[in-house]
Amino acid sequence: EKGGWSSFMAKEIAEDPEAVANTLRGRLVDGLPSLGELGSLDDDALRGIDRVQIVACGTAAYSALVGKYAMEAWARIPVEVDLAHEYRYRDPIVDERTLVISISQSGETMDTKMAVQHAIAQGARTLSICNTQGSTIARASEAVLYTHAGPEVAVASTKAFLAQVVALLLTGLHLGRVRGAMADDAIREVTEALEELPEQLRTLLADQDEIRELAQWMSDTRSVLFLGRHVGYPVALEGALKLKELSYIHAEGFAAGELKHGPIALIEPGQVVFVVVPSPRHQQGLHAKVVSNIQEIRARGARVIAVAEAGDSAVLPYANQVLRIPLTLPLLEPVLSVVPLHVFALELATAKGLDVDQPRNLAKSVTVE
Ligand code: F6R
Repeated sequence: EKGGWSSFMAKEIAEDPEAVANTLRGRLVDGLPSLGELGSLDDDALRGIDRVQIVACGTAAYSALVGKYAMEAWARIPVEVDLAHEYRYRDPIVDERTLVISISQSGETMDTKMAVQHAIAQGARTLSICNTQGSTIARASEAVLYTHAGPEVAVASTKAFLAQVVALLLTGLHLGRVRGAMADDAIREVTEALEELPEQLRTLLADQDEIRELAQWMSDTRSVLFLGRHVGYPVALEGALKLKELSYIHAEGFAAGELKHGPIALIEPGQVVFVVVPSPRHQQGLHAKVVSNIQEIRARGARVIAVAEAGDSAVLPYANQVLRIPLTLPLLEPVLSVVPLHVFALELATAKGLDVDQPRNLAKSVTVE
């Protein structure tokens, strides 16, 4: 039931805070991850693996990319991300020391299921991150971590994406702890930030008028680009996917560092570019690099909409508009920065009079290869 909402998608975005809270519920004890539900994938088993491969499709694959950054940082284990339909056909190097994590909201995506089966046949350990209880992929895997985001009816995935990212962050912390790569204090710093997310999402969602106005103003736009860096890169990909899916306009996401290697040729006066700006507290000066990307595209006439942390004033002189997100740890930022992009896609499709819950040519779960 849609309740009072104009669409399931609008309702499901409004459920973001609850979805994230539900993914965390019962999985933190004294500030440390507690994932006893992984059964035979116990601490010994997790100490025995030497690589992680994450397989998924679409939005779920973008959550996987965020997971890669976090897991490598926290657990210091090599993590590869594959689109599930590419994985099996490239004869991946996988054995009993490989942990293959599949991510699927529906748990019924055929491509992802086949990738899991391939991994099992090679002797890999398998964990699935699913939203739908008892789904095929959940049952096929050795262990399952349910996201508990609640049913997602709109074809475009929103709250499930946030929940997938949070489940991957939990898994990364758990691996970091079990494998001795991360001290308890460092883990607690992250889990404290995780626990703040639901309230921060509530604050963020309370004021979406600016994005609605922006979308209405842009309803005739024919192309939108999205740039991001580090964990903002998958957010840019997700923003572009959602926009093309719902409003049928050309949208593309790039890693900001890639701009000068080609995509900058697309910039002409009036081109709208969303830039997911990393926090100034990010290591390695990524914030300054992205601000300089913004300067470069502004100089060529782009119209820049920055998604930036509250208080980040460095973007103000260069961005045409700044959408603010609350402060969190850099690796947790996607959970917040993706929200304005989801809302933007919803509002632009709405402004164009399209059916946001049932975009043309798409099905909620893709059960054929
Ligand atoms: C995008 C979208 C799709 C799904 C993809 C995987 O909004 O919904 O890209 O993310 O088809 O679906 P699941 O997660 O059910 O395996």
